[in-house]
Amino acid sequence: MKFFVDTANLQQIKEAHDLGILDGVTTNPSLMAKEGIQGTDAVMQHYKTICEMVDGDISAEVVSVDFNGMIDEGKKLAAIHPNIVVKVPMIKEGIKAIKWFTDNGIRTNCTLVFSAGQAILAAKAGASYVSPFIGRIDDSGWDGMALIHQIRQIFSLQGFQTEILAASIRNPNHIIQCAEAGADVCTCPLDAIMGLLKHPLTDIGLAKFLEDAKKFA
Ligand code: E4P
Repeated sequence: MKFFVDTANLQQIKEAHDLGILDGVTTNPSLMAKEGIQGTDAVMQHYKTICEMVDGDISAEVVSVDFNGMIDEGKKLAAIHPNIVVKVPMIKEGIKAIKWFTDNGIRTNCTLVFSAGQAILAAKAGASYVSPFIGRIDDSGWDGMALIHQIRQIFSLQGFQTEILAASIRNPNHIIQCAEAGADVCTCPLDAIMGLLKHPLTDIGLAKFLEDAKKFA
């Protein structure tokens, strides 16, 4: 399973990258706004900076909701760097745009996916990635991980090449469950990745080893 970090914060991207396990980055307009990135030029420059920091797929989201607008935006985003993956919302115009991008050699990430039916449509249109939002499904009282299992089963059975990019991750356990469910990618907040490091017995064990090491130092 590939690890992407889900942020537009350059310090957090650097920290995840420095761990040596980072395969890519996802962003969205909310994450860009959180970093105070405003205006098309600043947004484009920010994507370029991220591409220069991380050698992996970088999702950059269109904000148009009509076909022509998405194509226009997506072409500009894709021109920033070969690693850019154009993120397109799961709506009717989005599916048409994903098909157009597929036919024209531009890779896509279909975002805001909340059902298996939506995932099938995105795969049929040729999306490189499909992003089911686990945390938001859990938040609404449904079972986000069940959707990952369902999409995995369908894609494997049908031979769809679209990668399952589990998104809206809330905690380390989500990451472990995504690995168990066969997600191809997990995009995570930095603290969820760092949470995987933690176990109290590791801390207790290390303290004892270091204490004992003093005896022969
Ligand atoms: C994925 O690409 C999305 O940007 C992200 O995972 C959404 O997560 P949230 O539900 O925490 O906003």
